[in-house]
Amino acid sequence: MCGIVAYIGHREACPIILKGLRRLEYRGYDSAGVALLTGELTVYKKKGKVQDLENFIGGRNTHAHIGMGHTRWATHGEPNDSNAHPHYSTSERIAIIHNGIIENYAALKTHLQKQGHVFHSDTDTEVFVNLIEEIQTQNSCTLEEAVRLALHEVIGAYAIVVLSRDEPNQLIAARKGSPLVIGVGQDEFFLASDATPIIEYTNEVVYVNDYEIAVIRDNKLEIRTREDVKQTPYIQKLELELESIEKGGYEHFMLKEIFEQPRSILDSMRGRLELEAGHLNMGGVRAYEQKFVNAQRIIIVACGTSWHAGLVAEYLLEDLARIPVEVEYASEFRYRNPVITERDIVIAISQSGETADTLAAIEMAKSKGATIFGICNVVGSSIARATDAGAYTHAGPEIGVASTKAFTAQVTVLTLLAMIVGHKRGTLSETKLRELMVELSNIPAKVEQALTLDAEIQVIAEEFKDVTNFLYLGRGYNFPVALEGALKLKEISYIHAEGYPAAEMKHGPIALIDENMPVVVIATKDSSYEKVVSNIQEVKARKGRIIAVVTEGDDVIPAMAEFVIEVPATSEVLMPLVSVVPLQLLSYHIAVLRGCNVDQPRNLAKSVTVE
Ligand code: M6R
Repeated sequence: MCGIVAYIGHREACPIILKGLRRLEYRGYDSAGVALLTGELTVYKKKGKVQDLENFIGGRNTHAHIGMGHTRWATHGEPNDSNAHPHYSTSERIAIIHNGIIENYAALKTHLQKQGHVFHSDTDTEVFVNLIEEIQTQNSCTLEEAVRLALHEVIGAYAIVVLSRDEPNQLIAARKGSPLVIGVGQDEFFLASDATPIIEYTNEVVYVNDYEIAVIRDNKLEIRTREDVKQTPYIQKLELELESIEKGGYEHFMLKEIFEQPRSILDSMRGRLELEAGHLNMGGVRAYEQKFVNAQRIIIVACGTSWHAGLVAEYLLEDLARIPVEVEYASEFRYRNPVITERDIVIAISQSGETADTLAAIEMAKSKGATIFGICNVVGSSIARATDAGAYTHAGPEIGVASTKAFTAQVTVLTLLAMIVGHKRGTLSETKLRELMVELSNIPAKVEQALTLDAEIQVIAEEFKDVTNFLYLGRGYNFPVALEGALKLKEISYIHAEGYPAAEMKHGPIALIDENMPVVVIATKDSSYEKVVSNIQEVKARKGRIIAVVTEGDDVIPAMAEFVIEVPATSEVLMPLVSVVPLQLLSYHIAVLRGCNVDQPRNLAKSVTVE
């Protein structure tokens, strides 16, 4: 949650920082601010979007070669000007930006108030900067030393950047639990929560590790641990294209990302599905193949859309590899006292690789000796680094807050994993494996075909844009798709929506059905098709308005449904990759017609780095 960006070098800092904030706005958009060393330590900040900040700054002095900026997703304190970052210390000599949460801020604040520090916000961050000031005053030490000592006193998660009016030629940054990457340019450095603000200036980056402090001074980057041990910065080459983080002519990132799916699914299989040679290949699995083969149980931990991908994986792994699977909300799992043994494999799924609950679930499972396998999209992310092994989804940056291409890439990777493990365990025959490989290689083209339904789906969106409730029903592999369709609609259009297993409806939700209730039924031809047809009859008998997603050529359901969306046929096992596409489009168009901010829905942020 929250995006941070900073610059030190020979260029004007403010335009670089503002552009970086726009790229990071998906991480939070409650308020934005900048601090610049303009001779003074100047802070400009404003409630609202980066655009509001830019309007506010217009015409003021921004001339500086060092500065930092922040875009906020509110945790401590409502979104307003005074809770916006950067925060000054009491003397206004020091300023800080912070992504994360300081858990012991209340006790520290009481102590600091007694020492005479004055607070102007409700944030934990203002406590952090005053703690640094207090330590510096008490110890008459440098800012670097004060930051180091302060890090020993705070409990929680942070990525911070600190500037001081009295030591004006340096930037100090540190991280624990929240991401921080440094771009290394020619006589200049960039710091940010992720690489998107950096990529147009340099592709050389250093990922800061937990408990490390980075000091950039006199054109040099020095990294030390919190215990003051010097580290050698590991410079990596970024493989990120600038156009992948721009809208490329689409009105919204979400639409662009929906339409990118034929390519992103292909990328997630690239080098892994070798059709001609007839084999599957996943580097991250190789060393752990035997572990998977002998696994007694697989536990999947994730949140939100990634959790829905985990549910699809439960069907896949039980079906193809015959391994018992449990799918857990990371946030619940970590606070139970779950039974985990060294023979368990825990698969953590996360687009961002930064979700705090998923990270904490990993740490807990690790401490009990389980093997942790990560499926992440963001390369070098905290989860990718915390796991024993894993596979990247290679979907490319996903900027729209509503996850779309990340879901289909996760499901693709999980399908490959289930096929590899099933084949090794002898539960998936050579013939069936071959068939699935061929069918999987056809999925990008089938998703392309599903995308041509866009105009039809706009018509349906127009019809239902003003309703207040929606039901989504599916069975088997299409049940997680129903959940995902409902989540997409809720989060971007603010229409209440529920996903249900179609047969479970008669145990309660059927009471909701009347002539005003739209019911999206994912009713593709599969092993439960006949049963789903009966469920549609039950809805129809109560006058519910049926929107059916069916397999191309279905001649039964069109007679029962008000609207029919025909998707291409594929294997039951692979259907979620296709059937989810019209649901993504439906929620997108409804949200646009309702005038909602599709890419930045209210109260949300792209990665949830707080518990
Ligand atoms: O980055 P992650 O996959 O770990 O994120 C998990 C959820 O926060 C995320 O899927 C969220 O539910 C999305 N907004 C759904 O569209």
